[in-house]
Amino acid sequence: MKMHRFEEIWLILGVGILVLSMVVTGYQTFAMEMGPPSNTETIDPQKVDETAPFDNPGVFKTGENEYEVVMTLQIFSFTPDKIEVPTGSEVTFTMTSKDVIHGFQIAGTNVNAMVVPGHIQKITETFDEPGEYLVLCNEYCGAGHQMMATTVTVK
Ligand code: CUA
Repeated sequence: MKMHRFEEIWLILGVGILVLSMVVTGYQTFAMEMGPPSNTETIDPQKVDETAPFDNPGVFKTGENEYEVVMTLQIFSFTPDKIEVPTGSEVTFTMTSKDVIHGFQIAGTNVNAMVVPGHIQKITETFDEPGEYLVLCNEYCGAGHQMMATTVTVK
């Protein structure tokens, strides 16, 4: 009789945890926009240099406190190389790869994206804390993968 009761409790607990994790994941995905990128903007990876906006990579002011960084990733670098924005800026990174799959991770933030050739990846982050943020490629992309890094300077 006692075992039966425990089984019941564990079953309820198990189902409860499952439902809770589904609710949390759903909330993060839809309410906090933390889900995998669902935009399907594509680009010919052979013609990145000729395709707007990637024909002119750089940092662009798009609003009061808003910036857009148009960026290409290629073995083994980020273009533009150094990025500088004022403290408090909301920065949208618009990225694509010119060759293989790269990663785009900004240390000390939640920014962590995969940049796949043929696709345009957009990710937005607000930088409230001044500092030098290390940007790393976190997808193995070849012999120079470890060297693939840059910085975002916020000041
Ligand atoms: Cu690019 Cu690793």
